[in-house]
Amino acid sequence: MNSPAMHGLQLNTPDFVKHPRLIAWVADMAALCKPAAIHWCDGSQEEYQALCQQLVDAGTFTKLNPAKRPNSFLACSDPSDVARVEDRTYICSARKEDAGPTNNWMEPAEMRATLGPLFDGCMAGRTMYVVPFSMGPLGSHIAHIGIEISDSAYVAVNQRIMTRMGRAVYDVLGVDGAFVPCMHTVGAPLAAGQADVKWPCNKTKYIVHFPETREIWSYGSGYGGNALLGKKCFALRIASTMGRDQGWLAEHMLILGVTNPQGKKYHVAAAFPSACGKTNFSMLVPPEGFAGWKVTTIGDDIAWVKPHSDGKLYAINPEAGYFGVAPGTNYHTNPNCMASLGHDVIFTNVALTDDGDVWWEGMEKDTGTTPDHLIDWQGKDWTPQIARETGAKAAHPNSRFTVAAGNNPALDAAWDDAAGVPIDAFIFGGRRSTTVPLVTEARNWVEGVYMAATMGSETTAAAVGQQGVVRRDPFAMLPFTGYNVSDYFQHWLNMGNKLSAAGAKLPAIYCVNWFRKGADGKFVWPGYGENMRVLKWMIDRLEGNAKGTETGFGVSPTYGEITWDGLDFTPAQFETVTSLDKADWKAEIALHTELFTQLAYHLPAELTATKLQLEQRLAA
Ligand code: OXD
Ligand code: MN
Repeated sequence: MNSPAMHGLQLNTPDFVKHPRLIAWVADMAALCKPAAIHWCDGSQEEYQALCQQLVDAGTFTKLNPAKRPNSFLACSDPSDVARVEDRTYICSARKEDAGPTNNWMEPAEMRATLGPLFDGCMAGRTMYVVPFSMGPLGSHIAHIGIEISDSAYVAVNQRIMTRMGRAVYDVLGVDGAFVPCMHTVGAPLAAGQADVKWPCNKTKYIVHFPETREIWSYGSGYGGNALLGKKCFALRIASTMGRDQGWLAEHMLILGVTNPQGKKYHVAAAFPSACGKTNFSMLVPPEGFAGWKVTTIGDDIAWVKPHSDGKLYAINPEAGYFGVAPGTNYHTNPNCMASLGHDVIFTNVALTDDGDVWWEGMEKDTGTTPDHLIDWQGKDWTPQIARETGAKAAHPNSRFTVAAGNNPALDAAWDDAAGVPIDAFIFGGRRSTTVPLVTEARNWVEGVYMAATMGSETTAAAVGQQGVVRRDPFAMLPFTGYNVSDYFQHWLNMGNKLSAAGAKLPAIYCVNWFRKGADGKFVWPGYGENMRVLKWMIDRLEGNAKGTETGFGVSPTYGEITWDGLDFTPAQFETVTSLDKADWKAEIALHTELFTQLAYHLPAELTATKLQLEQRLAA
């Protein structure tokens, strides 16, 4: 099939695509974007290798030394295109109130009028890739399908790792299955004869979602969550809207399995803001003193959670790979992750060693040395002396690895189970140097929703903007909720009400903070594998084996309830990470009040009532 407006370009639809609406959409998009060619991805290994080679030939990829990192590549982006652009991200619902005060909004017709001219001819001189992908196990009743059209081969190869990508998706779609159309362009058309650059992108960027029509349009960036549209755009922003309408949850949560020495297994889903150690927690190795305990990864970033007929909530990881932050990752912080990165990895914006391998800040903790010379992520010479003198980082703080879940030695046997895994507890954690205790359990679902709704966190390099300032990040979903966040709180409350009305035992809700600092400005809690001690206390609570102690802010462990074998952590240190300071909490509650004022439209009354109770308890 060919559209008359396609200027002679052949659509060349392969026979495994049998979906007339999809084919017509691709033809329309080709007519709009005017690419030089169309490539329908089949997801095969041969295709992956050919595209990687093409990226090497274009200078986008550097092939790493196969003796050190078999079948792995390094891409270094344009220095202006290194993180998600939250200020260029829009939720274009028909009504502004439905996007809510935490999202940028533009009237849909106005946005379409803005995007139209930008997309017109935007792929000139480039190949348009049609990338079919399933978010979630193929055919799972919790999964959904997307088709990403992109003019970036980097996107196509990353999507093959990050999603179930390939022709099997078309078998699930059949002739009329539903899919989310995801339009992406780097916004850098090539005139006839114009030479390409290594990382094409555009200063103008738009990451746009139309929740009512479930469409994504992304312009100008080739990087991460701006361009791999299955991840933040689909699996969180569009999916959260689908979840609201269809009665399920799309969450910025890792999912892990934890099995005790008796073989009993629990599943936990945990929300943390970007670059707060989610991948580390999802691959945690239990420390000394936890013989027989096992932690396994189902997902490291996103969970889709659905109620089942047995009254429980079941979760799947919609992704198939990890797009994790490299700096800080080493054999101490995340040995399973390091083991995952041995082969078949795409690195983005880390440094290149003289022997063709990769390096990032934090690796020196494993080897005890820093390389004498590197090529940094911007292609410049880097030495420890240059770093000392200029502060230059060898790897960008938001540099990443893209790796298939299958590389993870701690991968859970059920990670690809179409039915998902039953969730026993939700955890919410921010990065806070003060105020919020190490761990506390909500007394009930509403209090848990309150804790999650009012969560604050210090900002990180995952998004463009100032770092280290505390911002409210409800449910770690501030940049990812596809609709009015107060309606999202209501959706969580409704879910709790519905499940308890049906007689279900709701998952427990915990709030954690690994990041409290002492008077010396250093982290007090050792974190990483030691977080197992907190996880075990949660399980003790689930099993009725830990009484805890009531505090102004939920139920906390006593010192004696934490298993300390193998760790020297004094009661005084414990007090430093668990104490509630009255003045800090007065200031904290004032920030909750400010948040609630900002979110007043549709803010559930239960949350205001919970705040009042909290204020009274903390004042007592
Ligand atoms: C991510 C993020 O890339 O949250 O996961 O920014
Ligand atoms: Mn994330």
